Amino acid sequence: MKKIALTGIKPTGTPHIGNYLGAIKPALELAKNYDARYFIADYHALNSVKDPKLLKELTYEIAATWLAFGLDTKEVLFYRQSDIPEIFELTTFISAFTSKGLMNRAHAYKAVVANNKENNKEDDHNVNIGLFTYPVLMAADILMFDTNVVPVGKDQKQHIEIAADIAQSVNFNYKKDLLIVPEPLINKDTPLIPGLDGRKMSKSYNNVISPFLPTKKLRKLVMKIKTNSQGIEEVKNPDECNVFALYKLFASQSEQNDLRKQYEAGGMGWGNAKQTLFEKLEDVFAKNRENYNNIISDKAEIDRQLKEGALKAREISSSVMQRLRNGAGL
Ligand code: TRP
Repeated sequence: MKKIALTGIKPTGTPHIGNYLGAIKPALELAKNYDARYFIADYHALNSVKDPKLLKELTYEIAATWLAFGLDTKEVLFYRQSDIPEIFELTTFISAFTSKGLMNRAHAYKAVVANNKENNKEDDHNVNIGLFTYPVLMAADILMFDTNVVPVGKDQKQHIEIAADIAQSVNFNYKKDLLIVPEPLINKDTPLIPGLDGRKMSKSYNNVISPFLPTKKLRKLVMKIKTNSQGIEEVKNPDECNVFALYKLFASQSEQNDLRKQYEAGGMGWGNAKQTLFEKLEDVFAKNRENYNNIISDKAEIDRQLKEGALKAREISSSVMQRLRNGAGL
């Protein structure tokens, strides 16, 4: 029997190259050897996205992105979190086994409190219960599907540890392995992906590049990547350049060597390096972009696939929930 891998992406922004390289690509790779369950975490997004049209649109964008990169719904269980009511029942169940202190120590919540303190606001300014208990909902996402491993970035490690803690508390109380204890699977090879301003590419920094932008927009964005102010004739250092760092993620070794030589020879302007990167991105993502445009133009079909996924997912979630109810005397 294959082990179960599960992960989710929140529809809080248009998917970007960082999501692709950091999450989607490795997850699709993993799906070859695991029983994979990938979902759209729309109830998580509700904490920040309160505009219904936007939430719907972003949900389609994430779904179409997975599909455009080749997620095969015959191989991978693919569903929308909000289509699985058992997740929310499980959230209530495990809340009885989650100490408040565990939530107080969660990084995401602590970061908001720290930021509030810095700005002389009350600790819980702008903190809703959804944000505070985010790790409980996330634990339910994971425990609901008997997950063994959760492929995530480093920033999510604590959340998986919280889910494992909760599962252990439940199992300890009932002296029975009612829940599978999950482990994080952190891909250490994922390189740092710089955004337009050189900081980590992230929707919260507003520095992202979407792989599916139309040609002109993509080029315009690439031309915005921050570089230093060296002139054309100057010799440049590729290892201290965001353009080169991005190029490296997609170019072959010999292509990298070629561009490196141009940096080091002098006589190459930033516009030139950016054009090389732009052409590379166009090339690498051309096929996926075409897929994406086809998929996103038929939202009824996306809905159909997600509903079908939810139907299969609910066979699992209802049986796990039944196991718990029986175990707990509910
Ligand atoms: N919290 C994750 C993030 O922000 C998204 C997420 C929600 C998730 N539920 C999950 C990831 C369950 C893995 C497993 O990226």
